Order: sequence, then C-alpha cells, then structure tokens
Amino acid sequence: MINVDLSKAQNFIDSDDFDNALKLANGSLKQVQDGSGRGSEWLGWRRILAQPNDAEIDRIEQHAAKIREDADIFIVCGIGGSFTGAKAIIEALTMPFNASGPEILFAGHHMSGRYLQELLKYIETPKENGEPKSVYLNVISKSGSTLETALAFRTLRSWMNDTYGKDASSRIFATTGKTGGVLNKIIEGEGYQKYIIPDDIGGRFSVLTPVGLLPVAVAGIDIQTLYYGAVSEFEHLEKSPDSVLQYAALRYVLHMNGVALDVIGSFEPELSGFADWTQQLLGESEGKEGKGLFPAVAGYSTDLHSFGQMIQQGRRNLMETLFVVNQPISDLGVPEMSDNTDQLGYLEGKLFHEINQSALNGTVEAHHDGGVPVVKIIIEKLNAQQIGRLIYFYELLTAVYVYMLDVNPFNQPGVENYKQAMYRLLGKTN
Ligand code: PA5
Repeated sequence: MINVDLSKAQNFIDSDDFDNALKLANGSLKQVQDGSGRGSEWLGWRRILAQPNDAEIDRIEQHAAKIREDADIFIVCGIGGSFTGAKAIIEALTMPFNASGPEILFAGHHMSGRYLQELLKYIETPKENGEPKSVYLNVISKSGSTLETALAFRTLRSWMNDTYGKDASSRIFATTGKTGGVLNKIIEGEGYQKYIIPDDIGGRFSVLTPVGLLPVAVAGIDIQTLYYGAVSEFEHLEKSPDSVLQYAALRYVLHMNGVALDVIGSFEPELSGFADWTQQLLGESEGKEGKGLFPAVAGYSTDLHSFGQMIQQGRRNLMETLFVVNQPISDLGVPEMSDNTDQLGYLEGKLFHEINQSALNGTVEAHHDGGVPVVKIIIEKLNAQQIGRLIYFYELLTAVYVYMLDVNPFNQPGVENYKQAMYRLLGKTN
C-alpha cells in the first residue's frame, strides 16, 4: 500500500477546515464509486481493475515477447496520455544504459522536424556488425487524429513502407479507439495489429490499458505484476481510502487558502518521468473554471541547485509533494581513499542511499521551516508492484480531489483552443 505522510504539512491548516474537507472528500469518493459525479462515463480506469482482462494481458505479453526477440528499436508514437505513462514506468523500472531488449524511442510528442530527421538517420544507420536495425512501431492515439502523432506516424510509416515493403504491416502496432478516426481507416486498409482503448477511459487515465502496457512489456517489465499491483491498491483503497482522502483534503484546504502550486518531485531520478505523468494527470484534470493547483515538476537534488532557492524563500504560495522510496534496489558505498584531500573521509563506507535520505530529510525540514507544506508519498521499493499501486493511488486521488473542486476531472475543453488557432494558421479546411 502507498503511505502518505502529512506530518510536515498539516500544521499549515486549521484542523476544523481539514475535518470539513475530509467530509467533502468522502462525498467525492462516493461520487467516484457510485458514478454519480460529472463525467461518470469515464470511470473505466476503475472497471478494468475490478474486472481484470487476463486474456488481453496475455495477448500483449505474446506480442511483446515476439517484438523483444526480433526488434533492435521499438518506437512509441503518441502524445499526452498516449505516451507519458509508458515513459514513466519504463524510466522508473529500467536503466537506460543497462537495458536489455530493444531500445525504446519516442516520437509524435512534439512537432520538431529536426528530431524526426535525426531519428530516421539513427534507425537507418546499420548496427556495428553491419546488419540493418530491425525496427517496430507502435502508434497510439485514442482519437486517431492528434496532429503531432499523426504527422510523426505518417513520416515513420512512410519509412517503414520504403524499408520493409509489404512486411511493414507486421511491424506496426496501432492502439486506438474502437471505431472512428482516420487511424482506424488506416488500420483497416493496412491490416495492422490493433489494440483498443476502451471508450470509457480517457487518455491520461489509460496507462493500464494497451496504451501503456504494450510499450512497457516490450521494455521487459513484468506487466502482470505491475497490473496486479494496481489491482491490490484498488482493492485496498475501496476498503481503506484514508490515505487518499487525507491527501485530497489537505490539497483542497491549501488551495482554498491561496496556495497556487504543487511542486512534485523526488530524490530518485528514476521517478522523474513518473512526476511528469502526475503533472499531466493532475494538470489536465484540475486546471479548469479558474481552479486548480499548478503541478510543477522538480528533480532533486539537482533542482535544489536551481529553483530550490525559490522554494525556500520565494513567494509563499506553494506546497510540495515528494515521492519517497524506502529501500534501494541496489546501492553503492562511498569508496575509501588513502588521502583525504577532497575532505569526504567522513562519508567513507556510507551508502549513497543513506546520503540521499539525509538530503531528503534535510530538505523536508528546511522547506517546512521556510513555510512550505511538504507531503511525502512513500513506497517501499522501486518495483513493478509498487509502481502499479502508485498509479492507481494517483488516479483515485485525482478524481476525488477534482470532484471536491466541483470540476469534471475527465475532460480537457481548454486543449481545443490552441488546436483551433493552429489549424486556422495552417489553413485546415475540414
Ligand atoms: O488525457 C487526454 O485525453 C489527453 O492528454 C490525450 O491523451 C492527448 O491529447 C492525446 O490524445 P490522443 O490519444 O487522442 O492522440
């Protein structure tokens, strides 16, 4: 289970306000559970954990095993909820310079021509033994029409067709909505392997569907354990939701008291992609109708040498959420040296995790004393089971907290504004 430590935050709020907010959070949780809240047609992220689809997990594992056997490169082409989740999990559970299996690359998450050009050059360059790289592609778009993804897919698909001819279709996997959209037309025409994103699951809540699971399985991560970690947290929180309710209530009271930003960070660099995922999940869900805490991502201790100064002494309108990992997967000790010119002898033999935890505890103390409410979200170990748990914890937290603001968590009407302006400038006619 996910532990939440509010001890360095609760003293910033009035206990009656907190109790009232807890009642509101309870009401919001009921709305999520009985489907009586706004956007209740988008609660499929709970349904898939209440009734896991083992056959689909098997199908994904089988495809992933085949791809892992044959591919040197696997390109994930998607944006927003169609890529942040997979990226977060892969970064959390694998090390880029020590990964086994195909190299996972991302595309379709912006519109840089230079990036795509360099990507094409890279995949075209033969391996050290002179053989061509074996490339597979997974295009992911629920609507099937998002411009960033569609443009990258057109470019990569064209390269795949030129390179593999009619065999290209066996190397392309498409993940999209059941029907509609231009992507479905392309899939029908080309015969690509298709995965369906259920109608009742929105993009940023879709990481535990094939959207996230196929790329994660191709990266060699045990998706059964990940998925059933989320199922365990779902079952736990249905019975004992206090951790979610208390964190949601605290966020709500701080927001009502004028806090404008939640700085979300970790001292574990592997979790920086996860912080990005929570940034999108919270930001697109709560930032509506003039409401919401801006989710700002921080990577520590790196950013303590950057905007750490601002957190410590800048405008007092922020809170901080830190992901804490209790036990490292592996660790390193500070080496002994015969001379002590670097004056680090006092750390000799200490483990890096211990030093990192001191940095974490010192930072919590300093930020709290500097007037910043700090919440710790604690997991035992960085493994697939715990990441699965953390994913569902954040999904539920987001839904409960956003209902407290009386906002629909599951739509993103504001995202359309930039698209309309862009399409007008590009001269799109239909
Ligand atoms: O949460 C969301 O719905 C969005 O962030 C989408 O995931 C993002 O806009 C990509 O959309 P699509 O999957 O339709 O290409």
